[in-house]
Amino acid sequence: MLILGIETSCDETGLAVYDTEQGLLSEALYSQIDLHADYGGVVPELASRDHIRKITPMTHQVLEAAGKTLSDLDGVAYTAGPGLMGALLVGATFGRSLAWALGIKAIGVHHMEAHLLAPLLAPSQGQDTAPELPFLALLVSGGHTQLVKVTSLGNYTILGESVDDAAGEAFDKAAKMMNLGYPGGPAIAAAATRGNNSRFTFPRPMTDRPGLDFSFSGLKTFTLNTVAANQPLSEQDIADIAAAFEEAVVDTLFIKCKRAIKQTGIKDLVMAGGVSANKALRHKLASDLDANVHYAPNALCTDNGAMIAFAGALRLLADQSNDLAINTKPRWPMIELAPINNGAELLARTARSA
Ligand code: KG4
Ligand code: ZN
Repeated sequence: MLILGIETSCDETGLAVYDTEQGLLSEALYSQIDLHADYGGVVPELASRDHIRKITPMTHQVLEAAGKTLSDLDGVAYTAGPGLMGALLVGATFGRSLAWALGIKAIGVHHMEAHLLAPLLAPSQGQDTAPELPFLALLVSGGHTQLVKVTSLGNYTILGESVDDAAGEAFDKAAKMMNLGYPGGPAIAAAATRGNNSRFTFPRPMTDRPGLDFSFSGLKTFTLNTVAANQPLSEQDIADIAAAFEEAVVDTLFIKCKRAIKQTGIKDLVMAGGVSANKALRHKLASDLDANVHYAPNALCTDNGAMIAFAGALRLLADQSNDLAINTKPRWPMIELAPINNGAELLARTARSA
């Protein structure tokens, strides 16, 4: 089954062609970072317009790179939510209409489910075993921080989530306070490598009480106060604050993952979403948790079309698809998703990519 995957939930246009028998055949990503840079954040209307500009040429680009044509496609998968309404509408309208014109099936994909499944499409280097169901998933992106129990594909229980900011959002805001640019995660991680993590001690929010929820807004305030108390900031000050901040986020996520493993007895943990590209987080979880930790290569951690094609392919294989209505959901709790019948079997039958 040959699937076109379309991601347009925020500020990245991602297209990919995935074959359930041969794996990922091609992908393309266009980032709008430069477009939004002057505004200090993503401007929804500009994001939608730029997705419109890129989506058609990028569709041709990935088909050509895969050595395929539109008539070879068996299905179209597009991100239906959660995300920015206007941005989602571009991918959903394009994807649904294209499928109708070609007489093939279309499926609206949940963006966070696609993140969660990405490490199953392409395991991290040196990781030759796939996670066994049931497994735990730490979803850490710009909009979400969640600990999820994956009982079977499509059957998700939220064990804990952020009561305020997402982990990625905290990275972005902390970076902005130190003029490190956007996205903040990679910028903070780079500065942290030159920093001394013991000069400042940042809090580990909500780790001293039971439960698996997170909070990152206090860390943001602590960063703001530290930045204000050390003006003007030298390069070394920035590196030291970045190192202490990163360590606090990593530690907080680690403590909650450890607690979730103890609470559930589950020994497979998947990390997914943009923040799972963070080296310090990967290292801490992989070396200090009593679990097999799985994550995707960097390009599949942050937003991309390949994860949408893969998640959509699994649902299309399970005979799920959407009717002609174009439905987008800016807010869409994962627990509302339908189970994927025979998910484990389908997974075993679909090609993974190295
Ligand atoms: O999953 P993603 O690409 O988009 C959303 O669905 O939100 O995640 C983007 C987030 C941004 O907040 C970005 O700063 C963060 O992921 N991020 C990182 C790293 N790379 C991206 N955070 C920490 N360390 C990184 N290396
Ligand atoms: Zn994302």
